Amino acid sequence: MKIFRNIIIIILTVFIVNANAQITNGKMNAFVNNLMSKMTLDEKIGQLNLVTPGSDIPTGSVVSKGVEDNIRKGNVGGMFGVIGVDKIKNAQTLAIKESRLHIPLIFGSDVIHGYKTTFPIPLALSCSWDMNLIEKSARVAATEASADGLCWVFSPMVDIARDPRWGRIAEGAGEDAYLGSQVSKAMVNGYQNNNNFDNTSVMACVKHFALYGASEAGRDYNTVDMSKVKMYNDYLPPYKAAVEAGAGSVMSSFNEIDGIPATGNKWLLTDLLRKQWKFNGLVVSDYTAVNEMIAHGMGDLQTVSALALKAGMDMDMVGEGFLTTIKKSLKEGKITQQDINISCRRILEAKYKLGLFDDPYKFLNVARASKEVLSSDKKNIAKELAEHSFVLLKNDHQILPLQQHGTVALVGPLANDKKNMLGTWSVSGNSDFAIPVIDGIKNIAGNNVNIIYAKGANISDDADFIKHVNVFGEEITVDKKSPETLLQEAVEAANKSDVVVAVVGEAADMTGESASRSDIGLPASQQKLIEALSKTGKPLVLVVMAGRPLTIEKEVASASSVLFTWHCGQEAGNAIADVLFGKYNPSGKLSITFPKSVGQIPIYYNHKNTGRPWDGIEAPKFKSDYLDISNEPLFPFGFGLSYTNFSYGKINLNNTTVKSKEKLEIKVTVTNTGNFDGEEVVQLYVRDLVGSITRPVKELKGFQKIFLKKGQSKEVYFTISANDLKFYNSNLNYVFEPGTYKFFIGSNSTTINEADCIFQ
Ligand code: BGC
Repeated sequence: MKIFRNIIIIILTVFIVNANAQITNGKMNAFVNNLMSKMTLDEKIGQLNLVTPGSDIPTGSVVSKGVEDNIRKGNVGGMFGVIGVDKIKNAQTLAIKESRLHIPLIFGSDVIHGYKTTFPIPLALSCSWDMNLIEKSARVAATEASADGLCWVFSPMVDIARDPRWGRIAEGAGEDAYLGSQVSKAMVNGYQNNNNFDNTSVMACVKHFALYGASEAGRDYNTVDMSKVKMYNDYLPPYKAAVEAGAGSVMSSFNEIDGIPATGNKWLLTDLLRKQWKFNGLVVSDYTAVNEMIAHGMGDLQTVSALALKAGMDMDMVGEGFLTTIKKSLKEGKITQQDINISCRRILEAKYKLGLFDDPYKFLNVARASKEVLSSDKKNIAKELAEHSFVLLKNDHQILPLQQHGTVALVGPLANDKKNMLGTWSVSGNSDFAIPVIDGIKNIAGNNVNIIYAKGANISDDADFIKHVNVFGEEITVDKKSPETLLQEAVEAANKSDVVVAVVGEAADMTGESASRSDIGLPASQQKLIEALSKTGKPLVLVVMAGRPLTIEKEVASASSVLFTWHCGQEAGNAIADVLFGKYNPSGKLSITFPKSVGQIPIYYNHKNTGRPWDGIEAPKFKSDYLDISNEPLFPFGFGLSYTNFSYGKINLNNTTVKSKEKLEIKVTVTNTGNFDGEEVVQLYVRDLVGSITRPVKELKGFQKIFLKKGQSKEVYFTISANDLKFYNSNLNYVFEPGTYKFFIGSNSTTINEADCIFQ
């Protein structure tokens, strides 16, 4: 009886939700139909135009002249790169008061890891493996950005990347489709407030669709060439997850797919995205990506603009190819009215869903901006996020956490630095608010610990490299003192200390867009510094800030402890000090493999076995290996230490044979066997032993972040059904194949704690 009643309630709820959605859609359609019936062709094309005033706008002015006129004429659908309530309000007022149909603009921005309060770079955040925190980071960023007038963020960036030479690896969630999909969902939910479009929600824009992270040789904007099976199984899932979470928009990528640039790729933007995935939001090009199809060799501006529109591109970012050529293409019969109407409708629908037709000034509230933007509670969140993102890579003899007494030599080019703390893509952040490590350490231990500071080295001494990095400002400063003097001072400081903390790594813009590197080691100046410090014989703690994995085998070997903090945002110094002195026990796990050498790239944990796998022991002839290096990474995916230790019991399966409709219950006991309370990310991997296509040696299928007091044990449960074991076969059907599956549970991807189960 009760079951019957529950079923009726569920059916009714689904009916009511659907009915409500239909009423809302019905209202929206009626509104948009009515509006479009009044629009001229030019006004419709105008909606497809996304502009930025760019850097040539005079300081203090709202928009450049051309843009102002275009807004009045109805030639602009949206803007980005306009920051602050006043400026946005002025631009919106122009559209509302001076354009013929008073259609509001949408205002976007690259809110990538926080808005003005700057959080760790996305790659760092993904190392927290904490989806609540990641969602919170997006929620807080949305609250702050929306208070400041924005309603659209060009995030999350969910490009799977397995080549750390690529600078934009910093913006994503690493190498794994499963983890990447969880992060993608969490970010969209955070930005869009689980699709409650109140005035603290912004429209997410999942990017860069698609496969941008697989640029050949790790060089930015480069060609991508990939099999469909790999694409579907390993690269597309995070974009799909964002679409399923309701992301309102998608940004196309710069690269080509199967020989056609993503921006003009109908298979990608229409067949896959809209027909297969049922995406009904708007698609925007990347910055001048429509025009860039000329250089790709796809034709002149008119041809590539028509190609993009017909492929399913709705909004043209900056290039104005749509604005200037679409009408001609229509006259010549190369595109149809319908093509323009469809895209115009999608943009108007996005504005409708954001509530801009009800109130174009919805996000423009000076009082809310002054309350929300850079409020002090957000600083604490920034610190919390940073602490959870750090990965402890080494801690011999438990050098960390540091004692609150004695003398610490604090050295390194990033130990007293503000400029590089925020990391790449912090367009609205202000590094003046960043906390340098030296200040953080003084805040926490200044009364008890004697701190001797010495810079020790410049980030780099290579003049050409510095020029290349410093395009947007002086991130790498060259000290007035000679490199020799800097080094000598650091060694003197080390000699006087009980422990040396060296803060080394990359300048912020050594990663990010257009920041690929062929050598991903520490610059020579810093290598020399570490070598000299290690020769002093003092315990050496490396704090490494970077936007990518680095090849630091030698440096890791010469240090006692290595804390990889990435570029961790404005609270860097406080968060690092907290972890160094044990106020927070590190819990981050790598979301990306660290290679030993660039020659191993691409290197990732879920590779195929090959017909001649290397067995990890011998180095004989005719195996899939190298003559000069082992296949093993420097640090594997999922790896990260804690100040405490965790032991894993044997895996317990509720059944060793499972029918396809049943679920497998997996249990493992995890115990904190060390001397600190701490968090552990318990990771579940699976190997499909035989498949209709070759299957990876391991695939992440689940994880749980748990907290254990010292001495405490906990049973951790996972449930796996046939659905979780599905993959795309060679016909690109998403299938479950019966057979034997090996399950692994442990603290990183190399775990050998395993149990077999037959799925029928
Ligand atoms: C980047 C995008 C970004 C856009 C707008 C492009 O160069 O690839 O990620 O959203 O610029 O700033």
